[in-house]
Amino acid sequence: MANILIIGAGGVGRVVVYKCVQDPTFDKITLASRRLSSCARYQEEVKARYDKDIDIAEVDADDIPALVALIQKVKPDMVLNIALPYQDLTIMEACLQTKTHYLDTANYEHPDAAKFEYKEQWAYHDRYKDAGIMALLGSGFDPGVTNVFCAYAQKHYFDTIETIDILDCNAGDHGYPFATNFNPEINLREVSSKGRYWEEGKWIETEPMEIKMVWDYPEIGKKDSYLLYHEEMESLIKHIKGLKRIRFFMTFGESYLTHMKCLENVGMLGIEEVEHMGQKIIPMQFLKTLLPDPATLGERTKGKTNIGIVATGIKDGQKKTIYIYNICDHEKTYKETLSQAVSYTTGVPAMIGAKMMMQQKWLNDGVFNMEQFDPDPFMEALNQDGLTWFVKEL
Ligand SMILES: NC(=O)c1ccc[n+]([C@@H]2O[C@H](COP(=O)([O-])OP(=O)(O)OC[C@H]3O[C@@H](n4cnc5c(N)ncnc54)[C@H](OP(=O)(O)O)[C@@H]3O)[C@@H](O)[C@H]2O)c1
Repeated sequence: MANILIIGAGGVGRVVVYKCVQDPTFDKITLASRRLSSCARYQEEVKARYDKDIDIAEVDADDIPALVALIQKVKPDMVLNIALPYQDLTIMEACLQTKTHYLDTANYEHPDAAKFEYKEQWAYHDRYKDAGIMALLGSGFDPGVTNVFCAYAQKHYFDTIETIDILDCNAGDHGYPFATNFNPEINLREVSSKGRYWEEGKWIETEPMEIKMVWDYPEIGKKDSYLLYHEEMESLIKHIKGLKRIRFFMTFGESYLTHMKCLENVGMLGIEEVEHMGQKIIPMQFLKTLLPDPATLGERTKGKTNIGIVATGIKDGQKKTIYIYNICDHEKTYKETLSQAVSYTTGVPAMIGAKMMMQQKWLNDGVFNMEQFDPDPFMEALNQDGLTWFVKEL
């Protein structure tokens, strides 16, 4: 039975709390966030829904001494970082100082530079190893489950995987002309950046949304899918041996792209400070204030998500193509957790990652990505915990 500290009471944090409360692996849960009011809301919901008590605390996760003090007080077996990618390094550092296991769902990102890199998190490997603690990086859906799907394909279907396409479709409709399904700042920074894919040992850069293909997503249908850079590719090229190409595609509707282009053209996606009526503001952060809070979208969202991987390669001398995917229904996830499917598909794997660590199914000293562990217990847990998956030979 584990004592856990969850940091970040946002859209994904709610799902993590709901799922951990229902799993017998975790017997003591503390939810901490920048604002105590965000935690108190989920504390009340959990009491009303499950008649379970969780502790709450206020913490600024940019402040290492404050994090260390909180961890020393709560004495958790592990910390689940469900705040923002900006806080990855401070929370990792506090975990190191207190010798506490760590998990997150997104790659570190510097607030002033919209780029993802594992370099700074991987640099903790030796120090975590020496301290006898583990960090599990990217235990969401993508990154996260997509990495586990690749490891599962490698283990059960191929001698060598040659190509991987990660295919992320959200066909949910929330009825707003424009909104993002998770933190708007993180989301818009990701999709307005240049695209990148990896082929024959090198990265190839593309203009934003330059490469498009149409994919027929099971239970959804054909959708325009655009090539983006996505962080799990950086670890997968290291760990899937023999890989020749990896790409990531995400679906976007016409309306989303038109809004994004207009916002970009007028400078609203800027991440540098501008002077506005004597005040310094960051346009992207101001836009976040104007847009609907993703945590409130659940109630209005209808439709499904479908995220998976298509791997091609060789098995017993034969060419083979495998598609592994999950379909998640926004209305069903709302019923279960008061959250839309994007938060749900991230929060459930975060809980499962923590469960794998606390049940010692995935436990090692150092810093690890998801595909470095045996995929089987994780895949089994996905089916039990609400994210059923399918395998198709194409
Ligand atoms: N891997 C995946 O598949 C995937 C998919 C989607 C999202 N994600 C990741 O999941 C994470 C959470 O996303 P989300 O949609 O839940 O975002 P969100 O709704 O904006 O929630 C983030 C929460 O973090 C808290 N926070 C922000 N700065 C903080 C600080 N300095 N100290 C303490 N708490 C702080 C905020 O707290 P307050 O409310 O208290 O102010 C907020 O509630 C992000 O890292 C995102 O990139 C991963």
